[in-house]
Amino acid sequence: MADQLRRHRQPQVTTFTVATPSPTQILVKILAVALNYKDGEIIQAPMKHHKTATFPSNLVIGSDAVGQVISVGSSVTQFKPNDRVLSLCFPLHQTGPAKAAYLADSPGMTDQGVLTEYKLFEDWAVVGVPDYLTDEEAATFPIAGTTAWMSLNYFNPIGVPNIGLQGKTLLVQGTGGVSIMGLQLGKASGMKVIVTSSSDSKLERATALGADYTINYRTHPDWDQKVLELTDGKGADLIFENGGAYTTSQSMDCIAFGGTIASIGYLSGKTDPPDANRTNINVRALARNFVLVGILNGPKDRLQELLRFVEQHQVRPVVDKVFSFEEGQEAVRYLWEGGSSFGKVVVRVASASS
Ligand SMILES: NC(=O)c1ccc[n+]([C@@H]2O[C@H](COP(=O)([O-])OP(=O)(O)OC[C@H]3O[C@@H](n4cnc5c(N)ncnc54)[C@H](OP(=O)(O)O)[C@@H]3O)[C@@H](O)[C@H]2O)c1
Repeated sequence: MADQLRRHRQPQVTTFTVATPSPTQILVKILAVALNYKDGEIIQAPMKHHKTATFPSNLVIGSDAVGQVISVGSSVTQFKPNDRVLSLCFPLHQTGPAKAAYLADSPGMTDQGVLTEYKLFEDWAVVGVPDYLTDEEAATFPIAGTTAWMSLNYFNPIGVPNIGLQGKTLLVQGTGGVSIMGLQLGKASGMKVIVTSSSDSKLERATALGADYTINYRTHPDWDQKVLELTDGKGADLIFENGGAYTTSQSMDCIAFGGTIASIGYLSGKTDPPDANRTNINVRALARNFVLVGILNGPKDRLQELLRFVEQHQVRPVVDKVFSFEEGQEAVRYLWEGGSSFGKVVVRVASASS
């Protein structure tokens, strides 16, 4: 892994001058940054995984930051110095359904990211942070939190979340950031949650967090059959489909009649196995009457809705490991290598200024 990272881009520490905010901007001192699968992907295999994407040269990675407002532009009214703010994955996506145009602006992908010491943001490109969260916990919400929240609430209108989730069964694949957030939010919404993992010790941690059932997908490659057994043959009402190529077929075999498969990721690959001899997806969707919905993070107002929900339920996201800013390269490697992390990996960039 270390060799592979070296062969591609090597994360570097570079010095910039701290800028002054324009009238609509705020200057933020970055305190903590939560890493995501894509941060490793961009460094490790940018062309393989993002065939259509181009990245700015010397790209600063990272999308999920919590920071301290240092100064604000002359027309900014909603934030003041010392407020804590959170960045957004797709700042142009403020409300409503995703549009392709929103993908053109994303810190850490199309634009310089947040794994840096100071950054200017437009005042509409951040949200406030509930006081009860630590910096490290708060940093987990823009991507992992919003994605899990949208997967739970895609069909629920803003302002009335979690309708119909009580008592339903959620299946989350693996114990990464999105899945563990899904476990915590699902439990707080009254769902039964099944967690899969390649590791029994991670499954024990999932049980301690409230998972109702666990399945080791390595020792039980027929995990879809296990899901059916655990649900009296009914299947899971909602599945966080994180695996992609090598898991989607099994998800279609254990989704409940009328259920929803939230298409989130591609941890097992993007191309179907060559020997796939499966019933056509159209026929399968008809047979179980399921919905397959693509989840592309979510809008700012739904992140704010999520933050209200977690404050009300005092949900504390799982921060698996915290690295220092100087250990940033190590943090990316740790997450990308997989296998070790459970929940989120966070880089502590700095302490708040007094
Ligand atoms: N659509 C969106 O808006 C969005 C947002 C965030 C992330 N994503 C995508 O969602 C996926 C998960 O992201 P993440 O941030 O949660 O990743 P992560 O934190 O890096 O999660 C990695 C974990 O996934 C599990 N995993 C790997 N291969 C698996 C497989 N074949 N079946 C089941 N689980 C498997 C492993 O869990 P165990 O070690 O327990 O086996 C691994 O530890 C990624 O593909 C990412 O690109 C999409």
